[in-house]
Amino acid sequence: MNTWRQKYHIEPKKGWLNDPNGLCFFKGYYHVFYQYAYEPEGGNKYWAHLRSKDLLFWEEAPIFLSPDKDFDKSGVYSGCALVKEDTMHIFYTGNVKHKGDFDYINTGRESNTVHVVSKDGEHIDSRNVVMYNKDYPKGLTLHVRDPKVFEYENKYYMVLGARTMEDKGEVLIFESEDLENWKYIRTFETMARFGYMWECPDLFEINGQWILMACPQGVQGGKYEFQNIHSCVYFIIEGDFRTNGYISEYKEVDFGFDFYAPQTFMHDGRRLLLGWMGMPDADYTNPTLEYGYQHCMSVFRELDFKDNTLYMKPVKELESIRKPVFEYAEEKVIYKNTDDKRAFELEISNFGESLKIEIFDTVKLDFDANRGDLELSFIANGYGRDARYLKIKSLDSLRIMIDSSSLEIFVNDGKYVMSARMYPSNYSDIKVSGNIRGKLYSLDI
Ligand code: FRU
Repeated sequence: MNTWRQKYHIEPKKGWLNDPNGLCFFKGYYHVFYQYAYEPEGGNKYWAHLRSKDLLFWEEAPIFLSPDKDFDKSGVYSGCALVKEDTMHIFYTGNVKHKGDFDYINTGRESNTVHVVSKDGEHIDSRNVVMYNKDYPKGLTLHVRDPKVFEYENKYYMVLGARTMEDKGEVLIFESEDLENWKYIRTFETMARFGYMWECPDLFEINGQWILMACPQGVQGGKYEFQNIHSCVYFIIEGDFRTNGYISEYKEVDFGFDFYAPQTFMHDGRRLLLGWMGMPDADYTNPTLEYGYQHCMSVFRELDFKDNTLYMKPVKELESIRKPVFEYAEEKVIYKNTDDKRAFELEISNFGESLKIEIFDTVKLDFDANRGDLELSFIANGYGRDARYLKIKSLDSLRIMIDSSSLEIFVNDGKYVMSARMYPSNYSDIKVSGNIRGKLYSLDI
């Protein structure tokens, strides 16, 4: 029996999932599209489609986009949705790889920016290329992709990730009056090279602060920083993003093993984020492959910006499926999971200098104030995952979203997050020791 099937995270029944795409609220439904391949180990990319009224129960809609045009035949790559009156506008990258002896960096590839119009969010009314490689600024390789479009002060803006001929990652900004004709206005980059390609950019304002999120590929890390092969960061933008704005600093979005290519959108005054719980090119694996599928999404997270930091917390909808099972107010507690439940939320306030948690037979969390870090490590079943470290002096609170095969650890009120897939072979105990108060809920959906 497959015990790793997620209870409250989006994942495919069969096949491969990567980036969330086209997140929006349209005609009474939240829509999630995502990068999908029929082959569980990856293949030509489609846009799969789900919709939900409450961010909890998802219905599957037919495949929205297939790589069936000359301008996207090697994959309908990542992109976004913009809802304008009663119309859904989709932008994505039409990926084309020519057959032949090419390097696929400077030759043999096309990255076409495609605009799709849909009146009902299910059928395509029009689909045409609005920019080809020749329309992007000079000095770039053929790697330009992942449009994110938004409206600001009566104009439309698009960010696109790019790789320069000097092998440097950056983000391009375009402007439009009508969503069809796009004019390049400027580039966001760092002084020093920061990865060779920036994928999946997103630019948004939150509490008066402009934030540029992106996934730099190939940033080399140390024990506490950039521990994965590719990263996800947010840049804080000072000034006007259209003119004199510049990157003043960056912070990492996630400190775990499996988190990449997040996208945000606004609805009802909330900025929500969904990320892919996967890591391209990583040397760890996912044993769900034996059941014919791979990867899942994170939970939806609500963003806030304060103290110059982006905070994330699971959306409040997830609180409606909580069933209290245990209250912690002791030094050492073991919860014996005799019901074989697999979806939990563990909420902890910490008052001590050290804290240890063991989740099933698989994951260990260890905070030590003298050492100055929170260590997330695998006792067993890591499938190549070993340990990740978060440098923190004090640990005030933890909120851990546990599903059959994933963990999302929100630290200090969501100031930091560590996300990881985990594949327990036995779901018996959750052990906690430290000077803590807390609650364990099972999440029943
Ligand atoms: C990020 C990414 C995007 C691309 C898509 C292809 O994971 O590489 O840059 O559009 O995946 O599936």
